[in-house]
Amino acid sequence: MGSGPNVAVFGAYGHTGRFVVAELRERGYVPLLLGRDQDKLLALAQAQPGLAARQASVDDPASLDRALNGAAAVINCAGPFATTAAPLVDAALRAGIPYVDVAAEIEANLDTFAHFAERARASGTVVVPAMAFFGGLGDLLVTTAMRDWTAADEAHIAYGLSSWHPTAGTLAAGAISGQRRGGRRVRYTGGHLEYHDDALSTLEWPFPAPLGPQRVIGEFTMADVVTVPSHLAIPEVRTYMTAKAAADLSAPGAPAPAAVDDRGRSAQTFLVDVLVRSGGTQRHVVVAGQDIYAVSAPLAVEAVDRILTGRTRATGVVSAGAVFDAPDFLRALSSHLSLHIPLDTRG
Ligand SMILES: NC(=O)c1ccc[n+]([C@@H]2O[C@H](COP(=O)([O-])OP(=O)(O)OC[C@H]3O[C@@H](n4cnc5c(N)ncnc54)[C@H](OP(=O)(O)O)[C@@H]3O)[C@@H](O)[C@H]2O)c1
Repeated sequence: MGSGPNVAVFGAYGHTGRFVVAELRERGYVPLLLGRDQDKLLALAQAQPGLAARQASVDDPASLDRALNGAAAVINCAGPFATTAAPLVDAALRAGIPYVDVAAEIEANLDTFAHFAERARASGTVVVPAMAFFGGLGDLLVTTAMRDWTAADEAHIAYGLSSWHPTAGTLAAGAISGQRRGGRRVRYTGGHLEYHDDALSTLEWPFPAPLGPQRVIGEFTMADVVTVPSHLAIPEVRTYMTAKAAADLSAPGAPAPAAVDDRGRSAQTFLVDVLVRSGGTQRHVVVAGQDIYAVSAPLAVEAVDRILTGRTRATGVVSAGAVFDAPDFLRALSSHLSLHIPLDTRG
């Protein structure tokens, strides 16, 4: 049982929340188990003896204030974040504690930047949206690839997922984002988000070994189009997804992730290939690992650890690449992520 600071986890009994609770315990923090469903909370607390469980609802600010009492930080794992992010950020600001979430929803992440930037900065509080596989990791990789560049012409983030068995939370988040866009697609081009109805295109992406070249969906736009441009001058930010994983995600009755190891990780593997280009020079960073949900836990917990130990570069609403030393952050997660930084190439 850890004796470190209490860290509240909202949505603690969800698939990602459970990974976050386990990671906090492993790192000596004491998770406070928060969620809206008392029965699910009690079931989790029984499996995690010694941890406090506190029911709270996003519709009831006083319940959130009680739930955050004594917490040094809060990690929000309850999505769709279109519903949960604003009430939780608000509560964290009232409590004067840092807030980190794992939101992959582009519009919800934009809202967090738009609605809370001023208050968070004025109070000297750190709020980090999208501190997970999509959004946070891509931003850390692009920032690492940039090295001394402060601007570039393009950033490309190619997601090489072996498969994608989504959680209910992922499907709900996708549905809400789809509704918010009126069924339109979105891309980041010319320095802004553009909503459009163009058909999805596929292309071959030259992933390095061991994955090798794969068919990918072009403009499979993920939260990186919020996090990267929040602090880097890159007018074109494009994300790609292996066509196989995209098909898994949209298949009717897609199975949920199934654990294959003692940490509860699924067999899903990922390779993320990041390329930034400025003029004729290209810089690459490649990272590989297992299970996009599981790896979101060390990403979010490392973020909290750095915030609570003062290893930050900014306050306010900030993305991972803006607030942390990106290459140092990624190296600290070497037991979860294998990082490769090839030499610059002429592009
Ligand atoms: N950016 C990334 O790479 C990344 C990585 C992992 C997860 N995520 C996101 O994180 C979210 C959760 O994913 P998951 O895999 O953990 O899904 P999950 O297993 O389905 O869990 C969803 C959790 O959210 C809670 N929740 C939903 N609506 C709520 C509300 N209005 N108030 C309070 N709690 C609410 C659920 O509680 P109930 O059971 O009571 O409904 C449950 O605890 C999704 O939006 C997903 O997209 C993003």
